[in-house]
Amino acid sequence: SYGIKALLEKGKDLLLQEVVVNGWVRSFRSNRFIALNDGSTINNIQVVVDFENFDESIIKQISTAASLQVKGEVVESEGAGQEIEIIAKEIKVLGTAPSEDLKGTILQPKQHSLEILREQAHLRFRTNVFAATMRVRNALMFGIHKYFNENGFCYINTPIITGSDAEGAGEMFHITNLDMDNLPKNEEGKVDYTQDFFGKATNLTVSGQLEGETAAMGLGKIYTFGPTFRAENSNTSRHLAEFWMIEPEVAFFRLDQNMDLAEDFMKSVITYAMETCQDDLKFLAERFDKEQKQKPEAERSELGLIERLEYVLNNKFIRLSYTEAIDILKDSKPNKKGKFKYPIEGWGADLQSEHERYLVEKHFKTPVILFDYPAEIKAFYMRMNDDGKTVRAMDVLFPGIGEIIGGSEREERLEVLDEKMEKFGIDKEELWWYRDTRRFGSVPHSGFGLGLERLVLFVTGMGNIRDVIPFPRTPNNAEF
Ligand code: 4AD
Ligand code: MG
Repeated sequence: SYGIKALLEKGKDLLLQEVVVNGWVRSFRSNRFIALNDGSTINNIQVVVDFENFDESIIKQISTAASLQVKGEVVESEGAGQEIEIIAKEIKVLGTAPSEDLKGTILQPKQHSLEILREQAHLRFRTNVFAATMRVRNALMFGIHKYFNENGFCYINTPIITGSDAEGAGEMFHITNLDMDNLPKNEEGKVDYTQDFFGKATNLTVSGQLEGETAAMGLGKIYTFGPTFRAENSNTSRHLAEFWMIEPEVAFFRLDQNMDLAEDFMKSVITYAMETCQDDLKFLAERFDKEQKQKPEAERSELGLIERLEYVLNNKFIRLSYTEAIDILKDSKPNKKGKFKYPIEGWGADLQSEHERYLVEKHFKTPVILFDYPAEIKAFYMRMNDDGKTVRAMDVLFPGIGEIIGGSEREERLEVLDEKMEKFGIDKEELWWYRDTRRFGSVPHSGFGLGLERLVLFVTGMGNIRDVIPFPRTPNNAEF
């Protein structure tokens, strides 16, 4: 018994051998040629059926989307595009899929838009585009674990239910087991969370960083990799309410070492995916080209998918301060009208993704690491620079994506951290455990967060973040 990927890899080594394969019918041509796929690869194996050898009742049940077990002999294929095929000797129909039942589903053999695929997320694993994307996503996840484990990092699981808002942005999903129709109140008339299962107000984590920092303060080099939740009501092709984040944290690292790590890490995992997913990426690159051709010229990627990946691998990421970036953006003419949709308001304003993408795609034409952002627009835990105005933040910007990584050197000086928490209105008592890391042998340390789905978007060339995660959670979307 063979998986189809393994079977095709062995190819002619298997000539004249009898094999058993399982799969779903992708097409059944001329009542003779079955294209069978089992999800292990983008490629199908061709099964040849001599109908004289089979009961008509069996032949009738073989149709697109049906599942089969086939026993047969491997022979050289005469058709183009494949080395081998299987001459069927026995066919077991495991599950039928009558064509009248397929009506209205994405399993019907015709072109379906990505939007329609999304509405039938439970069926889209059967499609080439989504299955290829999922295999690349899997390779990236494995490559991430591989990279960190080969470089001395310890994988740490941080809690999903937490009492803290790590980013201080208030974008939390609150959770409680209290009776929502009958909430207990305290003397001040506020909800009494001490009666909650967790004894305090809790939420789904927006980042494992704060807990990750405490782990790095004992284990040195750690990373987290887990689901992350943001209750931001932004309906964009780059945002999810539930996404997966990878957060390395390293004791003794300064910001420049953090940038070195981010660059080396990104290049390694992309290389790993390119080496292990060649067939899928070839398919996705063709899809990418077709999609680019349908876009207005100004929005088209100058590079094909594979060239864009190679470009990132072969170029050193430009490192540029926020202040320098603002100067460049103020003087730039991004398009024929010479204007950004969101004009650059000057020093101090946050950058929009169109600004980030302009720097990467038009100005430098290489990934950019922006650093030393204004303190006011970044989180409380970032290390203050001597200028008293900027913090040691870094954002890694990628073509087609904009921000793919956000990170920083952390404020390790307790007095400065306390001052900052006060300024940002963060309760010191609440974060007593976080402050403890600065009380007992505090050290410089740095880390960053990579959004897995944004990396998958970049590597697969898919355009919408909803198409690179099995069951996307976005505003008004929890069907599955
Ligand atoms: O920039 P962010 O908010 O940084 C943090 O959470 C830090 N605690 C990370 C750290 O230093 N350990 O998020 C980091 C990355 C972003 O660059 C982006 O790739 C991704 O997480 N991200 C999202 N991805 C999908 N949907 C969303 N709503 C996202 N928000 C952030
Ligand atoms: Mg960020």
